[in-house]
Amino acid sequence: MKHICYIVAMQAEAQPFIEEYNMEEIPGFFAPYPFRLYQTSIGGCRLSVVLNGQQHGTDLVGCEAASITTMAALQRLTPDLVINSGTCGAFKADGAAIADVYIGNAVMFHDRRVPGDDQWGTQALGNYPLWQNSESLAAELGFKMGKVTTGSSLDMQPIDEEIIRRNGGQLKDMEAAAIAFVCSLAHVPLLLVKSVTDLCDGGEKTYDEFCRNLSAASHALRGANQRIVKHLTGKN
Ligand code: ADE
Repeated sequence: MKHICYIVAMQAEAQPFIEEYNMEEIPGFFAPYPFRLYQTSIGGCRLSVVLNGQQHGTDLVGCEAASITTMAALQRLTPDLVINSGTCGAFKADGAAIADVYIGNAVMFHDRRVPGDDQWGTQALGNYPLWQNSESLAAELGFKMGKVTTGSSLDMQPIDEEIIRRNGGQLKDMEAAAIAFVCSLAHVPLLLVKSVTDLCDGGEKTYDEFCRNLSAASHALRGANQRIVKHLTGKN
């Protein structure tokens, strides 16, 4: 593998990893867009981290930012593998705990409700392919796996929960399916690495729980991604 490209929504989610690898920022690479590029080389492999950047004084999150960042990264960097590393909500009922790290084994949207025939419904939900080696990587490194479902909101309305659970969703985020959509169009493999900041069925306010656990989950992502990069490149 010559080039691995991480797509990460929030700087806080990527910072421990960027620091661990002493990655260099390439300022203005995506100008005029706010996306940020950090790079290093590990053995013969180029490692990029692309962040969405900011608008309105906060890191851009959600599907729109994830889509355009991914498209720009694919066009400008032509990676062999994209890895979406980020935080998610999960369910106590599935045995999830804060800062657990999962590898995605499927990905879909949970808040695109298009009535109509099967084909429109299929397009709305997405159900995009993921990297074929996701499962073997998870097994070899001892990660749990789960189905990621993506929506445009941090909270979970009853209709979201119904769709998530009806479709076997376990990990709720705001970017993975959008990134998977772009990767599927470009035929670039995608690996999902998700760490839990909040329990969707835990009864606490999601935003408060997310803020409290963001640092722990981001450090868990650093540890997981170090092991994944070592596994993929054979180098520390
Ligand atoms: N990111 C972290 N926690 C989340 C949640 N509960 N829903 C959507 N995105 C998230």
